[in-house]
Amino acid sequence: MAKRPAPEPYKIKMVEPIRLISRQDRQKALEKAGYNTFLLDSQDVYIDLLTDSGTSAMSQEQWSALMRGDEAYAGSASFYRLVEAIKDVFGYPLVVPTHQGRAAEHLFFKLALQPGDIVPMNMYFTTTRHHLELAGGIFYDTICSQAHDTASTFKFKGNMDINKLEDLYQKRGERRFPVVVMAPNVNMAGGQPFSLGNLKEVFQWCREKGIKLYLDITRIAENAYFIKTREEGYQDKTIQEILREICAHSDGAWMSAKKDGLVNIGGFLAFHSHEQELFEKCRNEVVVYEGLHTYGGMAGRDMDALAQGLRDVCSFEYLRARITQVEYLHSLLDENNVPLVHPCGGHGVFLDAAKFLSHLDQDEFPAQMLAAQIYLEGGIRSMERGNVSAGRDPQTGKNRRPKLELVRLTIPRRVYTQSHIEYTAEAIVRCYQRRDKIPGLKFTYEPKVLRFFQARFCPLSCKKD
Ligand code: F0G
Repeated sequence: MAKRPAPEPYKIKMVEPIRLISRQDRQKALEKAGYNTFLLDSQDVYIDLLTDSGTSAMSQEQWSALMRGDEAYAGSASFYRLVEAIKDVFGYPLVVPTHQGRAAEHLFFKLALQPGDIVPMNMYFTTTRHHLELAGGIFYDTICSQAHDTASTFKFKGNMDINKLEDLYQKRGERRFPVVVMAPNVNMAGGQPFSLGNLKEVFQWCREKGIKLYLDITRIAENAYFIKTREEGYQDKTIQEILREICAHSDGAWMSAKKDGLVNIGGFLAFHSHEQELFEKCRNEVVVYEGLHTYGGMAGRDMDALAQGLRDVCSFEYLRARITQVEYLHSLLDENNVPLVHPCGGHGVFLDAAKFLSHLDQDEFPAQMLAAQIYLEGGIRSMERGNVSAGRDPQTGKNRRPKLELVRLTIPRRVYTQSHIEYTAEAIVRCYQRRDKIPGLKFTYEPKVLRFFQARFCPLSCKKD
């Protein structure tokens, strides 16, 4: 029997109506969207599990903080409150605000890299790799091998493989190797955490070689929860202590605050004091792309809501309710033999579309079609994280055919109830029961960059080409 989630440490004060349109209308909506869940109108979606990004519900303290927003163009008091919160929660004293995560990635890679530089990461994220490559960097995936095996129940599938790092370093030739990037709760691996033990080892390795270690701390609080509950020696530490310990083993970080920042928009770059030089470069450049260095694309009120969100997210009771809710969905599906990424990650449940639709070739986009079918079945919106997201290899022009072909059911924070979760599981089980009849897809329109956002498809049997 699936284990019920831990009770939430909050109750609901305001509700937002949602509606389920008929199956016939869902079919029409799906065709209009070219079988791409990114192109559905939210009014046609019943339960929206497209992303956990910017979709959280704010607390009453955050809504109150909005009212304190100082909208001064320069030197806003909200900015100083945000800097204070980042220093308290993560221990980084130097902050450059940005409107969201990819803006921080843009500035970071543009200013930290030179063309031809090698950058290893514990798996890729779409926008991260794109900005890294735009800056002329060469991305390498050095995550541990278990991360590519959906059946492996290793507790820390977000770990970096030091041997792969060392090997890459030995083979670097004339190329520069200035920075290693690690992301907590690795998104594309299924929301899988790294252990503090692994991070410390990588940090030590980087220090010995004079290489910087930067973190993408987008889902750091959820990783801290897994460290507390899974890693020996951390049971008695608070979430905040663990967060500080993670960040102490880095030179700096960036965050898409739309996830663990518990806000609808926001992001930042943050540095330890020895990174003053890179901080100053980023602070100079932020005015070109984002806004003055004391708001960087966020309104004053957004910065205040984020400052409060960073304090809210340190609550163990909140994180436990959040993650056990995700685990509940995982076990309801697992009980019905639906192929999943194991163990359950932090921000969502990832379906193994390659196994779910095993009769399809990866170039028939099984994950893209499965996401479309889940919408048709229950009005539930999910996201492809497979061959479409991975794009084409710039050298060969062929689909990258990544090892993981997944559908992500991402759970917004503090938004859906237990019955929504049960409803979702039932709809997916019905899709699984009729899986043999589900055909593959082909492109009818393929954008050149980050194609998954706007691509259009039709079932392989359709005439359009
Ligand atoms: N890094 C990670 C690990 C992310 O998951 C995201 C966004 C970003 C950076 C970029 O941040 O969206 O604020 O510009 N992930 C979203 C998602 C889009 O749905 O997983 P952003």
